[in-house]
Amino acid sequence: MKPLRNSLLLALTLLAPAASAQTDVRELYQAKCAACHGGDRFGAIGPALLPDNLGRLGQAGAEKVIREGRPATQMPAFGAEISEADAKALAAFVYSKPEKTPVWGAAEIMATRVLTPAPAQDKPSYTADPLNLFVVVEGGDHHVTILDGDKFEPIHRFQSRFALHGGPKFTADGRYVFFGSRDGWITKFDLYALKVVAEARAGVNTRNIALSKDGRHVAVANYLPNTLVVLSANDLSVVKIFAAGDARGQTSRVSAVYQAPDRHSFIAALKDAPEIWEIATSPETPKVAPGFASADGGPFALRRMSTSEPLDDFFFDPGYRHLIGASRDGGRGVVVDLASGRETATIPLPGMPHLGSGVSWLREGRRVIATPHLKEGKISVIDAQDWSVVRVLDTGGPGFFMRTHEKTPFVWTDSFLSPKNKDLIQIVDKTSLEIVKTMKPAPGKTTGHVEFDRSGRHALVSVWEMDGALIVYDATTFQEVKRLPMSKPVGKYNVFNKINFSEGTSH
Ligand code: HEC
Repeated sequence: MKPLRNSLLLALTLLAPAASAQTDVRELYQAKCAACHGGDRFGAIGPALLPDNLGRLGQAGAEKVIREGRPATQMPAFGAEISEADAKALAAFVYSKPEKTPVWGAAEIMATRVLTPAPAQDKPSYTADPLNLFVVVEGGDHHVTILDGDKFEPIHRFQSRFALHGGPKFTADGRYVFFGSRDGWITKFDLYALKVVAEARAGVNTRNIALSKDGRHVAVANYLPNTLVVLSANDLSVVKIFAAGDARGQTSRVSAVYQAPDRHSFIAALKDAPEIWEIATSPETPKVAPGFASADGGPFALRRMSTSEPLDDFFFDPGYRHLIGASRDGGRGVVVDLASGRETATIPLPGMPHLGSGVSWLREGRRVIATPHLKEGKISVIDAQDWSVVRVLDTGGPGFFMRTHEKTPFVWTDSFLSPKNKDLIQIVDKTSLEIVKTMKPAPGKTTGHVEFDRSGRHALVSVWEMDGALIVYDATTFQEVKRLPMSKPVGKYNVFNKINFSEGTSH
């Protein structure tokens, strides 16, 4: 008996440090981190520290931040204060699931709301064309630059919420822009007064936002909690909260929400349930949206479209008659007819298409759609009438974004995800579908995300690094016109192209 007892004791002593390290990491977190990141890790003056929020940072990345801090931010370096093992344990801790699912309902959202109305003015406070502004999201130091799209000169720069996520959304008159952040903060910015006028935290982990066609409502797609939140665009007060999930009660994260302007509706992708949602944003919706199934038809009536599997990353054809979603395995595009709510075709798109950044144009009288692939250096060009694949082009590497404009004969793309060609920009002729130009705007540096000005005469390219830049190209000669230093300009958005739903950019 004795040896057995001894080995039991030994096993217990071996287990003990692990057990106490677990309690320790919580205590350590409460002592050193909670003041800034929140006792529940949902965020405070520092960002939320939850697995879905941290995403691509990774445990090793988190450990590095904990030990070295983030220069020029409030995140201190803890390397001198805590052991390597504790830094590792904290990194694992911030990647563990939260003990409790956040409760983030109307009361919590309303409690975060801050209104700072700007004085009334019916004209901008500057002389630049308000419809040719670019809103540049600088992810490096979490700022937004408002750029004059004719002179390519910044007219304003302000600190944003931590990690803006998904594209900003503009009211139809171009006056206001809404931002969503990774941690759920919605910011309403007045582009005439150049001021934040309202903020509210609509979730704990948010994917993106959409604005209704009438400009009256903002929809927020959340991972945490599993909700789709509708706010008043006027003052960001809560109008409605949908618990996301399918008709059988399977709860789901919402991976994205889109405005379907021709249908007066929001369309949402559910991450964990085989359903697509359509939400009426006007009493008109059932009249203008064939297939809208709701009998009551009032605003925010919900229509569920069942699919054979969860679909993600939607592309809509012009007119919003169809959507193409990516299958979960990343090998196919699935076409859903929005009138019937049925899947009508599948398109072979190996290598994980990035449909959300697909673009469309008329090629010899037929509409085509092009999408880059996240895992292969290819672009697929699809016929939007019969969904056949017209051409698969080889590029320098897997790309993330594609952009064009009604007034240019070219499509621009990147090789963003290629380890060796991440600095390439390639230009494709919209008719011949040949690559006509390959360039390296900043050798060795990650380069991508193109956006055109309102006339289509200039293309703006991002050097996606902390000491990055925005490079303005003449879209006809491909000559560099100007280079503006920027802190990781993750995205740029032209007011005119966005409010007119240009076929060459995402919405
Ligand atoms: C004085 C406030 C403060 C304290 C204390 C603090 N942090 Fe931070 N932390 C921040 C801020 C602010 C940021 C965002 C920095 C930036 O802008 O990149 C941050 C960022 C981070 C990030 C990176 C998040 C991301 O998404 O990139 C991690 C991980 C992190 N903190 C972990 C910790 C841990 C663990 C502790 C405790 C040991 C801690 N922090 C203590 C303020 C703080």
